[in-house]
Amino acid sequence: MLYVMETVLLLSPTLAATGNTSTVSRLQNHFERKSFCVLVTSPHDLFSQKVNYNCKLKRINKHIVENQVNFVILIHAFKSGSCVICTCSNSCKLCVKYAVVFGGTDLNEDIKYQDKFEVMKTCLNNAVFCVAFTESLLAVARIHYPNTPAYLQQQALSYQLYNVSMNDSCKSHVSTKTPLVFLLSCSIREVKDPLFLLEDFLTWRKLATFSRDIRLLILGPVTDSEYANLFFKQMQTLIMAHHAQCTHNQDDKLHINLKSVISFPPLPGSTGIEAMNAWLSIPDGSAIQYLKPFEQSEFQELLRTETFFAMINCSKSEGMSASLLEAMACGLPVLARNISGNNAVITDSKNGLLFSQPQEFVNKAMELIIDNDLLKKLVCNAKQYVFQSHNPYKEGDFYCSLLTKYTSKVDNDFIL
Ligand SMILES: *[C@@H]1O[C@H](CO)[C@@H](O)[C@H](O)[C@H]1NC(C)=O
Ligand SMILES: *[C@@H]1O[C@H](CO)[C@@H](O)[C@H](O)[C@H]1NC(C)=O
Ligand SMILES: *[C@@H]1O[C@H](CO)[C@@H](O)[C@H](O)[C@H]1NC(C)=O
Ligand SMILES: *[C@@H]1O[C@H](CO)[C@@H](O)[C@H](O)[C@H]1NC(C)=O
Ligand SMILES: *[C@@H]1O[C@H](CO)[C@@H](O)[C@H](O)[C@H]1NC(C)=O
Repeated sequence: MLYVMETVLLLSPTLAATGNTSTVSRLQNHFERKSFCVLVTSPHDLFSQKVNYNCKLKRINKHIVENQVNFVILIHAFKSGSCVICTCSNSCKLCVKYAVVFGGTDLNEDIKYQDKFEVMKTCLNNAVFCVAFTESLLAVARIHYPNTPAYLQQQALSYQLYNVSMNDSCKSHVSTKTPLVFLLSCSIREVKDPLFLLEDFLTWRKLATFSRDIRLLILGPVTDSEYANLFFKQMQTLIMAHHAQCTHNQDDKLHINLKSVISFPPLPGSTGIEAMNAWLSIPDGSAIQYLKPFEQSEFQELLRTETFFAMINCSKSEGMSASLLEAMACGLPVLARNISGNNAVITDSKNGLLFSQPQEFVNKAMELIIDNDLLKKLVCNAKQYVFQSHNPYKEGDFYCSLLTKYTSKVDNDFIL
């Protein structure tokens, strides 16, 4: 049988700062496992600021020809999609077929703006297929791009995490340990809404009837410095307000909690896991702590230990949350805001808990602390669910068969 090696180019806007879990690295793994040759690049790499491109599409076509690329996959219909729009007067077309994998924010956010909407429309009209992570994104895609075959493929775990965690027993985290750390892992931007729970969390922590040392760890990169300024300011304001409330109250117990709200910025002299451990070792340390994200493989190791009690996701808008899936694979119970990206993965009270309001979060989190059977049930169901529905081997088969179907020059019987 004649075998021709196909070369696929992945064009992804988020090349830097992505690790094993990102879509681009999973796709790369999938294709390489099936002996495709894979090239990865980003719009930023292709278009250096110094050169003025008459037509971006011509630049990409040059790259395609030089590297003998047979097929292009654009990740993110707007950010990568804008690279395949002809901007000269020659009505250029991409010289090979291409497909689009939606990023989530493209269909949730970018589509609301007329100029971006037009870019995505042109991009999708010429694509041979597109892939969405969730039913609701798929529905949006089918409405706007009825002529482009659209497929649903849930995001998978990385092969590495799948491998290491699949044989972990479905242990449940012991909720008697102290402190109980709730983890909020998100980039500091408005759409992730990291302020959503802070006030209620601080109030909860001070409840006289609730004597547990609960903490909220916010881990994430600052990707929008304007929003981050607002975020840190508000965090400080909230903490000060609660601090003040504590000092007004002469109750001994609340006096202890006074310490608990002081040191929210990183502890001086230490960073990363060391800083976290320093914070955790302070009895009644600050209720809320922000730290820069840890190195990815270290972070995944930590998820599998009993450092954290539960994982929170309170984004307003989300394609599909890789960090929730990771937590589920690692045996951490998850509490997530009831939005489409999250409720595509989580069935409330079955494999996780959904909340819409901060107080609902507090009630459910409290239930999780008190009810060990509930905790165990959620953790075991979640594990089983991700291993079935977010299996990287299945995701790999899905993409490779699509690619084989659309790249093969000879007639091919491959049935999806
Ligand atoms: C990806 O996983 C490998 C294998 O565990 C690890 O060595 C590497 O550091 C990870 N990459 C990132 C970016 O975390
Ligand atoms: C995962 O495990 C399989 C089977 O044990 C192995 O063939 C594969 O190389 C592993 N992949 C990674 C990324 O560790
Ligand atoms: C997990 O268990 C299966 C079945 O017992 C075994 O085939 C596989 O090699 C194990 N994987 C790892 C990473 O230990
Ligand atoms: C939810 O999960 C996504 C995907 O990992 C992550 O990007 C986001 O920051 C999370 N949001 C929150 C608020 O935890
Ligand atoms: C989550 O939101 C959906 C859609 O708004 C709603 O139908 C569902 O009842 C909500 N689930 C929970 C647990 O609140």
